[in-house]
Parts: sequence; C-alpha cells; structure tokens
Amino acid sequence: MKFVFFGAPGAGKGTMAARAAESFGLPHISTGEIFRAAMRAGTPLGLRVKAVIESGGLVSDELTVGLVRERLAEPDAAGGWLLDGFPRTMAQAEALAGFCPEDYVIDLEVSDAKVVERLSGRRMCRGCGRSFHIHLMPPAVAGVCDDCGGELYVRDDDAESAVRSRLENYYRQTAPLVDFYKRRGTLVAVDGEGRADEVWAVLRERMRGLIESGKA
Ligand code: AP5
Repeated sequence: MKFVFFGAPGAGKGTMAARAAESFGLPHISTGEIFRAAMRAGTPLGLRVKAVIESGGLVSDELTVGLVRERLAEPDAAGGWLLDGFPRTMAQAEALAGFCPEDYVIDLEVSDAKVVERLSGRRMCRGCGRSFHIHLMPPAVAGVCDDCGGELYVRDDDAESAVRSRLENYYRQTAPLVDFYKRRGTLVAVDGEGRADEVWAVLRERMRGLIESGKA
C-alpha cells in the first residue's frame, strides 16, 4: 500500500513514518533525508541543495519530482511505500498523482506552538538520520544515537529564522494540498499533538485498518 506522510515541519512525519516502516515492512522514503545524506556526502546533489535547505526554502519541483520518480521505480518500492516530506507543492502532488498515485495521505495535525517546541529541541543522528528530542524523546545517553551510536547534532534548518521560513512555506505552498487530497478521497487526518507513543498507538490502528481493508 502507498502512504504519504503529510504535515507541518516538526509534525512528526519522520518519527511516525520510521515506526510505520518497521511495523508494516514498507520502505520509508524521506526527501529531506535524501537531501541531507547528499549534503553529508558532499555529492553534486548535496552541494546544489545545501543553501536552499539551510535557509528553510524549498528545493525546486523539477529536481525533487525527478528524484522521487527514480526512487519509486526501485525494486523495494514495488510493493508499496511511505513517502515522508513529498509532495509539498501542488505541482509535486499533481506529478505524483500522474506517475504513482497514493492510496492514503496521513495528515498529522499539530499546532504551531507544538512545532516550535519540537524543532527547538530536536537532535538528529549523523549516522542513521534518526531524530530525538532533548526533553520529549531523549536518547539513553546524551548526544549519542540509541540505534547506531552515531553523534547527535542540531539541524541548520532548525535555527529560529529557518523554522519561521519553513512554517511560512508550509502555509503558503503545502497546506493547500489538504483540499486537493480531500477531493481525491485519500486524506486521513490524525491528531499529532500528543506524546509519540500516544500518536503512534492511534496511527498504527488506523493504518492497520486501511491495509486490511485494502487486502479484502
Ligand atoms: P524535511 O526533513 O522533510 O523537513 P520537514 O518537512 O520540515 O519536517 P521535519 O523533518 O522538520 O519534521 P518531521 O515532521 O519529520 O518531524 P520529526 O519526526 O523529525 O525536509 C527538510 C528540507 O528539505 C525542507 O525544508 C526543504 O528545503 C527540503 N525538502 C524536503 N522535501 C522537499 C520537497 N518535497 N520539495 C522541496 N523541498 C523539499 O519530529 C520533530 C521532533 O519532534 C523530533 O525531535 C522528534 O523526536 C519529536 N517528536 C516527533 N513526534 C513527537 C511526538 N508525538 N511527541 C513528542 N515529540 C515528538
């Protein structure tokens, strides 16, 4: 089954998509993580997107759509996928609907206050990309990833000015997609405001129900 994880920056898309990937055995495809891995490795893609990402802007539709299209054509995505952070413009949503239509869009609904609280304490692993929060989801040992032992760091785009610009972009370019997906009948709204385990307990049951009904 094909799921899009949708929501504001810091809504918990990455956290919930990682849990869903593990539970349901679907590949977790995060455009943000693809870009960050390219930046870490210093590839031509990474060098091309670095400035725009660090300032909180959006990478061009042409580049992002091409990259997702190629990724979804890989063998591990043939049986379904979890897309995290794509689409986030109308052009991207229309492109995806054309080349690989989604079954459901999980819209994690959170307030702006929650976004700021989550992003201001987020720490990411340099090794595997897992995210933690210094208060809400702390690692067992400060500064060290529970999964791979990698070093935790603060994302450049979690600086206050970049968060402001990401939220502005979200409301201007991404939030309007909610109506697009409502019209397609694929939008599934989930309250993302609670603690991670609470949100996941509700989401897991919703997804399980959708997957079971899709098999019938
Ligand atoms: P991307 O990485 O996709 O950033 P984003 O959408 O801003 O989302 P975030 O990663 O900030 O948040 P999230 O919703 O995944 O939350 P998380 O689970 O980490 O993209 C980065 C950049 O790449 C973009 O700004 C853009 O420049 C570019 N880009 C990417 N895709 C693009 C596209 N399609 N088109 C153009 N450009 C693109 O959680 C946040 C924090 O809260 C963590 O610390 C976590 O531990 C904690 N947390 C999560 N859930 C809970 C919970 N329920 N309770 C308590 N804490 C929680």
